[in-house]
Amino acid sequence: MTYATLTLDPSFRIGVVDRRLFGSFVEHMGRCVYTGIHEPDHPTADDLGFRGDVLDLVRELGPTVVRYPGGNFVSGYRWEDGIGPREDRPRRLDLAWRSWESNQVGVDEFVAWCRAAGTEPMMAVNLGTRGVREAVELLEYCNHPGGTTWSDLRRAHGAERPHDIRVWCLGNELDGPWQIGQKTAWEYGRLAAETGHAMRRVDPRIELVACGSSHSSMPTFASWEATVLAECYDVVDHVSLHSYQDPLGRTLGDHLASGVGLDRAIDAVVATADHVGARLRSRKRLGVSVDEWNVWYQSRFPGESSLEWAEARPLIEDTYDVADAAVVGSMLITLLRHADRVRLACQAQLVNVIAPIRTEAGGPAWRQTIFHPFAQAARHARGEVLRVEPQVGCYDTAEHGEVPLLDATATHDIETGALTVLAVNRSTDEPLTVRADARAFAGHRLVAATTLAADDVRSTLTAADQHSVAPAPNATARFEDGRLTVVLPPVSWNVVRLEPAGAPQP
Ligand code: AHR
Repeated sequence: MTYATLTLDPSFRIGVVDRRLFGSFVEHMGRCVYTGIHEPDHPTADDLGFRGDVLDLVRELGPTVVRYPGGNFVSGYRWEDGIGPREDRPRRLDLAWRSWESNQVGVDEFVAWCRAAGTEPMMAVNLGTRGVREAVELLEYCNHPGGTTWSDLRRAHGAERPHDIRVWCLGNELDGPWQIGQKTAWEYGRLAAETGHAMRRVDPRIELVACGSSHSSMPTFASWEATVLAECYDVVDHVSLHSYQDPLGRTLGDHLASGVGLDRAIDAVVATADHVGARLRSRKRLGVSVDEWNVWYQSRFPGESSLEWAEARPLIEDTYDVADAAVVGSMLITLLRHADRVRLACQAQLVNVIAPIRTEAGGPAWRQTIFHPFAQAARHARGEVLRVEPQVGCYDTAEHGEVPLLDATATHDIETGALTVLAVNRSTDEPLTVRADARAFAGHRLVAATTLAADDVRSTLTAADQHSVAPAPNATARFEDGRLTVVLPPVSWNVVRLEPAGAPQP
């Protein structure tokens, strides 16, 4: 048995949790849209063809914002193809994923789906093969009240009121050689500045995200951000960061340390953005939008150029195990710990494509193991993130050196008084006893302690088995005299919740 200590004190604040930290991502890729969220022939489909069983799971998962329509897809996308009568919409080649795109789902359907799912849309514009004009027209179509060609067209298509989309991504991963319309940092920075400037003229209330590097292992990581932001710092609100963690070719211990890689990447992006801000003598501080993150068994994917042309074929439908759920939990903890600068984050993607939700065409929809940490964090991590100062032993990793066995954070909701501790035991073989000094919350009571773990960390979930891996009550949790104790099994994701003693019980 190993031991760890934490301090839980409402005075030690990192920042307020932006609810948009619990975002997700729907791309026209593989079966994320078609036979994922949308399948008109499915027995649960609604009038627009959206699957009701998937909508139910999305509501349970609780993403607060959903990025759309890509990803790499957006860099060749013509948004006008996806509006108007569906029978008139063109079929196009999607060059990103070598697919035939039917355009049966476009921006109007996606916004309607978001409203039904109880989430906010977040749009990306095409800065790969298109530019300022098309981005501005899309924004006008979506957000302008009426009286212009584009806004009246939206109204004619049934959306009388503006879609009022607040967050806009200025392209996607334009540093990547795989991207249609890849740019140099300077080219992209100029285009982002010009596009953002014009878009703000249409709707000054929007928030704009500039593309940072597509991965922290890119050879131009940090210098890309420095050059891009030198051009568009004044125009944008956030800079993006993408982080996929590949378990293949790593030991389990190294995989469980993935959050450390994300942590360092966020620090590096913040440092680079602040350096540009300092050079510009700007008082403005940019947010970080981690708008693609997840575990992805990426080295299994042979690459898009190896694909034959097909329509909505299965692509990167990874199956996740308990260890992956712990890593997703740890990445969520990392995002929360950076709540002072990370304002948006989108787990990629939502359905079928490296996703917490899977479907069968014509069949069931089901939760994967990684569904649970996301759903619990989205529901319970509210208010202010607390600096919990874990004291714990470390283990050695090839990639990140010495890594703490415990990854933990806590949130305090000032309105309700609720305190939530989120923790991952990274040990592959030892339980961890956590003792937290929570005397500042001595008037609270323990309302729930759950653990997601399994004897076999390779356990997965299927449509037929939705229960063998799920958060289960952790009977070891105790809260007495302001001292919290809980034992965390190896490779586990844990949530402990305290509430003021007088709070109404559910
Ligand atoms: O999410 C899958 C792909 O990963 C996205 O299309 C792209 O932005 C990233 O490289």
